[in-house]
Amino acid sequence: MELQKTDPRTVTREYFDSLLLEQRLVGAVEPDTETVIYGHRFATPIMTAALSHLKTFNPDAGAPMEAYAKGAADADAVHWIGMTETAEFYSVMNCGAKTIRIVKPYADKDKIFAQLKEAEEAGALAVGMDIDHTFDRTGSPDLCMNEQMAVYDVPAWKEFISATKLPFIVKGVLGVRDAVRCAQMGAQGIVVSHHGGRMPSAVPPLMVLPEIRKELGKDFPIFVDCGIASGVDAYKAMALGATAVSVGGHLMKIVLQEGAEGVTARIRQMTEELKGVMAFTGVKDTSSFDPTVVHLRNF
Ligand SMILES: Cc1cc2nc3c(=O)[nH]c(=O)nc-3n(C[C@H](O)[C@H](O)[C@H](O)COP(=O)(O)O)c2cc1C
Repeated sequence: MELQKTDPRTVTREYFDSLLLEQRLVGAVEPDTETVIYGHRFATPIMTAALSHLKTFNPDAGAPMEAYAKGAADADAVHWIGMTETAEFYSVMNCGAKTIRIVKPYADKDKIFAQLKEAEEAGALAVGMDIDHTFDRTGSPDLCMNEQMAVYDVPAWKEFISATKLPFIVKGVLGVRDAVRCAQMGAQGIVVSHHGGRMPSAVPPLMVLPEIRKELGKDFPIFVDCGIASGVDAYKAMALGATAVSVGGHLMKIVLQEGAEGVTARIRQMTEELKGVMAFTGVKDTSSFDPTVVHLRNF
């Protein structure tokens, strides 16, 4: 599919490519990519993204939602799952990945509470909500896969956040204003994301990330997705303030063609690419990234 020049996905790609890195080799050491997320250690900060309905893209792909999770588990990476129902959710959880479940802003509030509880009972790592599915492009509450979404006010969001003992992540933050409000509401993480460009002219996540990191402080979990397709992209997000990054579309193609093994191999390869750039820029571990290595191409 040919993307338009103004499509947020195109602009986001261009922004990644406009970020250039300086070398810092004097005193550099071999880097360690181990990453701690919500108290658990992982081999890499490269995670899957919250996907859903993978079977509909290739009916011959076997069980792609499970393969996606197994691929993450075998790479010792965090796994994310999006819109799903009980049977599929448990089947994915049985693949052994430490999983973050993103629940939709369903109009049916009871369904939200039930899915949050289900995630907690099944031992999920965290839960969250993709608030960028609240509206459709006409500003009405969205209809997603024939399910009605609703517009919730801040007290309702606080209710969702306090309904679970798990860390609650707001997915779909694209500016410092919302980021600060999410932290004030009690969220324990955000995903800086335009969700593949749901809003026209959405800003690239990496453009707003440094300011968000500055406002939320160095320890607040900030995850980033949209357009990440290499370890170098992951590096740029980490350098500008991400705690860890999610890879959606890029891994989706791989899981549909190559299954779990392909996903594991690509996460490992991206982690090596990331480690390579960490070495060249003098970053010894995932808590030592420095935004001053990044330069915006202006020629
Ligand atoms: C097929 C597909 C299904 C998705 N389903 C969900 C979902 O259910 N929940 C969610 O929060 N995000 C969902 N997303 C959005 C991704 O999590 C991610 O934000 C988006 O694809 C941007 O990342 P990417 O450029 O790496 O793909 C979906 C994306 C795709 C491509």
